[in-house]
Amino acid sequence: MEFKNILLSNENDIAICQINRPDVLNALNMQTMSEIVNALEISDKDENIHAIILTGNKKSFAAGADIKEMSNASSVEMLIRDQFAKWDKIRKIKKPLIAAVSGFVLGGGMELMMCCDIVIASETAKFGQPEINIGVMPGAGGTQRLTRAVGKIKAMELVLTGKIISANEALQLGLVNKIIPIEYYFEEAKEIAKEIASKPQIAVQLAKESILKSFDTTIENGLEFERKNFYLLFSTEDQKEGMNAFIEKRKPNWKGN
Ligand code: CAA
Repeated sequence: MEFKNILLSNENDIAICQINRPDVLNALNMQTMSEIVNALEISDKDENIHAIILTGNKKSFAAGADIKEMSNASSVEMLIRDQFAKWDKIRKIKKPLIAAVSGFVLGGGMELMMCCDIVIASETAKFGQPEINIGVMPGAGGTQRLTRAVGKIKAMELVLTGKIISANEALQLGLVNKIIPIEYYFEEAKEIAKEIASKPQIAVQLAKESILKSFDTTIENGLEFERKNFYLLFSTEDQKEGMNAFIEKRKPNWKGN
């Protein structure tokens, strides 16, 4: 598939999806979001791929939805375009998504980052939901995912003031896993992706699915869901291999099934 605004490449069992609109700080117009979703779906279906890195460039992961594309739209046009609906497909990606972010991580950029499962940030990363400063509010998950990630009072502060926070503040809030010097943040994301890619893949995907389930169900239903996924893993060869390897005091040899 031909892409205009992203670059998609594979390195062994890792896919790398790079947003590539540097002139506009990787603003996420509709074309770019379609391409990102397509790239993630292609990688998700590719059985040789075990983890996916989503990244931008050192200056900007993404400075938000494309303001110029939306500025003159009416509510009805926005409703008909329903441009954020396709973001829901990101929730269905089964493979682990690792965000490697640097520079501006704003508005839709931060919302995209929060769709990912692990976040590695460069020390220059700046985060925020500044939509209030242009007369709107987050529209691609910010009020929901940010609140679940950092709690009500911090989400209110970020969304209602539009303030920008540093990588350190984002780390303290639990929005990112690690802060790494700018020269190495992408390498670090690759290291984590490689580590996850080396694990038994069905267990990785069912564990991801179970964690995501906790966001939209009761504890009782979530525990039941988790338990069934746990039992399901006993039909995989990797469960037998993993447990036998432990008992036989050797390294497991994962088959991925
Ligand atoms: N949409 C469209 N274009 C954008 C953009 C955006 N979100 N962010 C930056 N750009 C463009 C600028 O218009 C500029 O283009 P020109 O050279 O053609 O003028 C170029 O990128 C460089 O930007 P600046 O000159 O502004 O760079 P700066 O270093 O002075 O400032 C910035 C950087 C603070 C990130 C500033 O660009 C900015 O505030 N951007 C907008 C951030 C924002 O409000 N994001 C939220 C968007 S709405 C949203 O995301 C809704 C949602 O929930 C999905």
